[in-house]
Amino acid sequence: VGEAGQAVRVIVLGTGQMGSGIAALVLEKPGLALAGAFARRRERAGTDLGLALGRAGPLGLAIEADLARLLERVRPHVAIQATCSRLADAEPEIAACLARGVHVISIAEEMAWPAAASPERAARLDALARRHGAVAVGTGVNPGFVLDTLVVALTGVCAHVDSIRARRVNDLAPYGPTVLRSQGVGLAPEAFAAAVGAGTVVGHVGFRQSLAMVAAALGWELERVEEARRPIVSSVRRETAFACVEPGQVAGCLHTAVGFVAGRPAIKLEHPQQIRPEAEGIATGDEIEIRGRPHVRLAGSPEIPGGVATAALAVNLLPRVLAAAPGLRAMTDLPVPAAIMGGVRRA
Ligand SMILES: NC(=O)c1ccc[n+]([C@@H]2O[C@H](COP(=O)([O-])OP(=O)(O)OC[C@H]3O[C@@H](n4cnc5c(N)ncnc54)[C@H](OP(=O)(O)O)[C@@H]3O)[C@@H](O)[C@H]2O)c1
Repeated sequence: VGEAGQAVRVIVLGTGQMGSGIAALVLEKPGLALAGAFARRRERAGTDLGLALGRAGPLGLAIEADLARLLERVRPHVAIQATCSRLADAEPEIAACLARGVHVISIAEEMAWPAAASPERAARLDALARRHGAVAVGTGVNPGFVLDTLVVALTGVCAHVDSIRARRVNDLAPYGPTVLRSQGVGLAPEAFAAAVGAGTVVGHVGFRQSLAMVAAALGWELERVEEARRPIVSSVRRETAFACVEPGQVAGCLHTAVGFVAGRPAIKLEHPQQIRPEAEGIATGDEIEIRGRPHVRLAGSPEIPGGVATAALAVNLLPRVLAAAPGLRAMTDLPVPAAIMGGVRRA
């Protein structure tokens, strides 16, 4: 990190939905300077980032398709990664940044608790980050906040916890074909089961990360995880820009995961994802219930909107990352992020 008083130079990896939202938010915040953007799509190279973001004019920042070159040219302090979900896919970009002492904030789901996907990759990233004095952390609305960080924070008022249940009901209507396919939207119920078996319907990516994060924070040893993916069969017609579901067809996936501790189900996470739940009178929302001393229940409706929340978390985490000790960190290792309303200062 450069001298105090200068703006924090930030680059964005990925110019899709989230990368664009994050870049726009970085531009809004005093003390942060958007220094560049990397795109995996080679055809985006050379395009002005402002135009790619749909702004009225150019920003004078050409999108790069060569990450190493971008890092060398721009020498950013922080890279925010929004290119992928899986750790194996995310690791090369993260490693390229860490090896140059650049901090990484990633919204890749498996980066929320990397050891859940691969202890070896997690150890490798941790060693690399420490060696180069950098920090890597995963965040996002889910995993990263609603079904893990927020749950952990709520247990802070408990003298004892017996079990935890958390549920996020969302609307898939804003999402495109890739996401809708991964939830089985539009399939016949029989085809849904086959698609789960074939791995084309995956449900939510992130339960294992959230369960591991919550268990570790509480000092619980997670013995095993049981997951189930069931079709949400619609009884009415539901339509979005990318899908039309008739009665009897699948509107989404009810994915659940149960974490077992000392032989009993201790943490249950539920994430029914479907298009237009309101068509059947179902409100979106987030709910956390902790059975313990005291019994705690927190619920809100509608859902915390995933897009805005994920971009905000990725940016709001920046001051915490700049102040953290080098290494691979989780949300629960860092002080609570807060909205940046007064500008970013570096020590
Ligand atoms: N942890 C969380 O809570 C959370 C929340 C939201 C999203 N995520 C994850 O973060 C990642 C980014 O999300 P996103 O909504 O930004 O996904 P996205 O729009 O699909 O962008 C992701 C990547 O796909 C590429 N891409 C976008 N549109 C494309 C197109 N039309 N053709 C070919 N490639 C295209 C982008 O390429 P370029 O690199 O070339 O720009 C980008 O690197 C996803 O894996 C998502 O699952 C996590």
